Amino acid sequence: MKPRLLVTGGAGFLGTHLLQRAKEFIPAGTLHHTAATAIPGITFHVCDLQQPEEIRMLLDRVRPEIIIHTACSDQGDNLSAIVPAAGLLAMQAAERHIRFIHLSTDQVFDGTAAPYTETNTPCPINPYGEAKTRAEALIRTLYPQATIVRTSLFYDLGKPDRQIQRLIQATQTDKPFQLFIDEWRSPLWVETLADAILELANKEVAGILHVGGPKSLNRWELGIKLLQHFGITPTFNIKKCTIKESGLIRPKNLTLNSSIAQEILQTPLLSFQEAQKKATK
Ligand SMILES: NC(=O)c1ccc[n+]([C@@H]2O[C@H](COP(=O)([O-])OP(=O)(O)OC[C@H]3O[C@@H](n4cnc5c(N)ncnc54)[C@H](OP(=O)(O)O)[C@@H]3O)[C@@H](O)[C@H]2O)c1
Repeated sequence: MKPRLLVTGGAGFLGTHLLQRAKEFIPAGTLHHTAATAIPGITFHVCDLQQPEEIRMLLDRVRPEIIIHTACSDQGDNLSAIVPAAGLLAMQAAERHIRFIHLSTDQVFDGTAAPYTETNTPCPINPYGEAKTRAEALIRTLYPQATIVRTSLFYDLGKPDRQIQRLIQATQTDKPFQLFIDEWRSPLWVETLADAILELANKEVAGILHVGGPKSLNRWELGIKLLQHFGITPTFNIKKCTIKESGLIRPKNLTLNSSIAQEILQTPLLSFQEAQKKATK
C-alpha cells in the first residue's frame, strides 16, 4: 500500500512539481487562494494554514502519513503566514506521528560566510529570512524528528517560472532590467529538488539538511542561462548590476554546502548544465 502524502501549497511552484512526481505515494495537496492546475489523480483541499481548526479537519480527512510543507513563501501576503503555519502543522504532525518535511531557505543567512553548512547559525537580514528562521526554530522545538530542507533558488526548464517570465517580458521592452553579478546562490532544478524531497519522505532524517545545486551561480549567470535555454537572446536592457549600485541590502553569497544531502540521497543534485542535458534528452 502506498503511503498517503499531503503537500501544502499544492498549487505553488514546488508543490505542483512534487504532486506531479509523487508516483510512489497517494498524494493530496492543499490550496489557499489560487486554483490548482488539474493534475490527474490528485485531490486538492482548500485550507488556510493559519487556522488550527481547518488544519485539524484537513488532517482528519486526509490522514497523511507524510506532510511536505511547501506553503508560505516570500510571495504576496504569505510572509505573515510563515511562522504560524509552520508551528500549527508541526504541532499537529508531532501529535499524530506524521513524518514532517518543512521547506526553508538559504536566506536564513546573511551572505558573509559562505559556503554554508547545516551547522552555521542563522543570521537573516531580511523579513523573509527572519520569518523562516523563526519557523525553523519553532519546528525544531515542537517536533525534533522533522526534516527542515533549506534550499536555494529553484528553476524550471520545462516552462518559464514567474521570475523568468519577468525577465522575458523585460526583453520585449526598452526598460532596464538589472541582474546582480555579486549575489551568489546554489540554484537547483525544481525537478531535482522535488525528487530529492520525495526520496527524503521515505527516510528518517531529523533536523536541517541543505539541498542546493552543486555549483554556485550569480543572478546574472542564472538569468542569462535561463533566457538562452528558452531560446531568447538577452537584449541590451538586461544589465549587470552590483548590490551596492542597487542601494538594496541583500545577502551576497548564499552558497550552500549540500554534501550531507548528496551522501544521504540517491537523487543526484544536478548542476545547471547537467539538468539542461537531462531536460532536453
Ligand atoms: N521559489 C524559490 O526559489 C525558493 C527558494 C528557497 C526556498 N523556497 C521555499 O520553498 C517553498 C516553496 O516555494 P514556492 O516558490 O514553490 O512557493 P509559491 O509558488 O509561492 O507557493 C506558496 C504557496 O503557499 C500557499 N499559501 C500561502 N499562504 C497560505 C496559507 N495561509 N494557507 C495555505 N496556503 C498558503 C500559496 O497559496 P495561494 O497562492 O493560494 O495563496 C501558494 O500556493 C516555500 O516555503 C519557499 O519559502 C523557495
